[in-house]
Amino acid sequence: MHILLMGPPGAGKGTQAAELVKAFQIPHISTGDMFRAAIKEGTEMGKQAKSYIDKGQLVPDEVTIGIVRDRLGQDDCKKGFILDGFPRTVEQADALTGILKDLGLSLTRVLNINVPASDLIERAVGRRICKKCGATYHTKFNPPKKEGICDECGSELFQRADDNAETMKNRLSVYEASTKPLIDYYKKAGLYTEVDGRQAIDKVTADLIKVLQG
Ligand code: AP5
Ligand code: MG
Ligand code: ZN
Repeated sequence: MHILLMGPPGAGKGTQAAELVKAFQIPHISTGDMFRAAIKEGTEMGKQAKSYIDKGQLVPDEVTIGIVRDRLGQDDCKKGFILDGFPRTVEQADALTGILKDLGLSLTRVLNINVPASDLIERAVGRRICKKCGATYHTKFNPPKKEGICDECGSELFQRADDNAETMKNRLSVYEASTKPLIDYYKKAGLYTEVDGRQAIDKVTADLIKVLQG
């Protein structure tokens, strides 16, 4: 299963990827998570990425394509993968086609989690993430049992630096201009399916699994 999860910022890609990992036991590859890990480690690539992420802009294609190429070449991806947040530009989509071709693979399905722009700022601003295990919560839509504490591992929750209304506006306009054209790109490739992301989290998961098993 070689899955591509698409959707605007805050649509629920990370939340749904975690469920698909449980259902299919394949790795979740999020370029956003990889950049945040590099920022935390203080690597040169992380420093470079941070200057773009904090403004809600895209990290340059040559950096992003390189890390995805390395990641998809690793052994655990041989059993399949869930890509989240990559590709985000037509250049990245073309590069992905090339990377997969070199590996003798092709995409099984491109799933777009569709959520109207009016809901996305509230989703991002209320998001909280576990410092230790990365589990994702929402103060209103998916609160932890104890405020500020992860249900899974008991660690503290934090808020992403780019999850404020101002940066979200930039992220949404970057999505409209650079990433939305990929919907047509994958429609033309015959790989595209849309799922209604306004439903409850478990309903969205059920729809995604239905498409993948259908
Ligand atoms: P990235 O980390 O990928 O951010 P994003 O695309 O903006 O998406 P998010 O992670 O914000 O949202 P999500 O769809 O995963 O939603 P989630 O499940 O958490 O990228 C960050 C930055 O890195 C980019 O801006 C860019 O700078 C850089 N970058 C990354 N990839 C790049 C690339 N390929 N090229 C260049 N630059 C790149 O859910 C959000 C919230 O909603 C949570 O609180 C959750 O609990 C809640 N929620 C989820 N589902 C539901 C539901 N059904 N109902 C109600 N609430 C829900
Ligand atoms: Mg995410
Ligand atoms: Zn945790």
